[in-house]
Amino acid sequence: MSKNLYLNALLFSAVCLSTACSSSENKAMTGQPLTQASETMAESGFREAADQYKVLMARLPEGRLPKTYYQKSDSLETSGSGWWTSGFYPGTLLYLYEETGDKALLEEAQRVLQLLEKEQFNTATHDLGFMMFDSFGNANRISPSPAYKQILLNSAKSLSTRFNPKVGAIRSWNSKPEDFLVIIDNMMNLELLFWATEVTGDSAYYELAVTHANTTMKHHFRPDYSSYHVINYNPATGEVQQKKTAQGAADASAWARGQAWGLYGYTATYRATKDAAYLQQAQQIADFMLQHPNLPADKIPYWDFNAPNIPDAPRDASAAAIMASALLELSQYVEQAKSQEYKSAAETILQHLSADRYKAAPGTNGGFLLKHSVGHLPGGTEVDVPLTYGDYYYIEALKRNKKLAE
Ligand code: GLY
Repeated sequence: MSKNLYLNALLFSAVCLSTACSSSENKAMTGQPLTQASETMAESGFREAADQYKVLMARLPEGRLPKTYYQKSDSLETSGSGWWTSGFYPGTLLYLYEETGDKALLEEAQRVLQLLEKEQFNTATHDLGFMMFDSFGNANRISPSPAYKQILLNSAKSLSTRFNPKVGAIRSWNSKPEDFLVIIDNMMNLELLFWATEVTGDSAYYELAVTHANTTMKHHFRPDYSSYHVINYNPATGEVQQKKTAQGAADASAWARGQAWGLYGYTATYRATKDAAYLQQAQQIADFMLQHPNLPADKIPYWDFNAPNIPDAPRDASAAAIMASALLELSQYVEQAKSQEYKSAAETILQHLSADRYKAAPGTNGGFLLKHSVGHLPGGTEVDVPLTYGDYYYIEALKRNKKLAE
């Protein structure tokens, strides 16, 4: 099978899941008409997702952003613009607008961007990459504008204020003055800094991002390339004071979304730097996850690879979506056998996320796309629920998959 036909076949099977694909249609995967068929199926998948997001849009109170939905009480949980997930809803709308051309999604994204605008000056959070790059970053990529560019540059400046040269990292959570907490999730905020150097030519952002990536590589990872969630540094000396978890099952466990953030973050850092050390790091993380004995056959991880009650532990669809999107990008940077392995793993994830167990039936799930994610199990919040970032990376992965097929 040619490369294109192979990719189309994978795409077809992934997108098929949300619709009624028959086995005779699957057999058609060996023939030329498949290309057309798979494109049509991808389009209908994005169209269906866009319609589902209109359900969410209709429920959203003025001035608020969606976080999750609780089926039992039929209640939508929302946040203000300062919460770390605020950029995902407009980001997903923009991705779906790109795929469908549906102006209602663009208008809703633009409305919400106005709510987020003030966060460009927020220096109290490290999450500006999530909040601003997934929202304004996508808006600027689709329709570049001086206003968007300025908002993004101000956001990069605000994020930079949290960098401590002694530690060599960006502070994640504010805490006691003698502590300096950095979480693996913070790797996701570096893309904003790399972008800022690219557009301004000011290498300071790049240097800061690379220093953070190096410090994280040194201290967050164990010999098997799993990562701790939180490292507590001494802000005056840079020494490591503690290695622990906040959202994982135990300090020494591999919290699934944390592993996915690391995988995505080092893949994106390799994209920006072309430094082989980051590519190797991303591959080692991917291999840790994919070869883990507790990764189920459908490759949707349990919320923690070391969760105490596997196989009865909840799965985390959001970790799976992030992983799929990262693996699709990583597959473009590695030799052929590894590339096939990563693509095939991503396809397996997308196929399962797109089937009934994980993908919500139209009009249900409060308008979110995916079911069965875990936000913070030890905190007793957001367990087995839809999450706005699960949807964002799921759509991103489907888009990446479609692009590979093209
Ligand atoms: N950044 C927080 C989380 O992944 O839940």
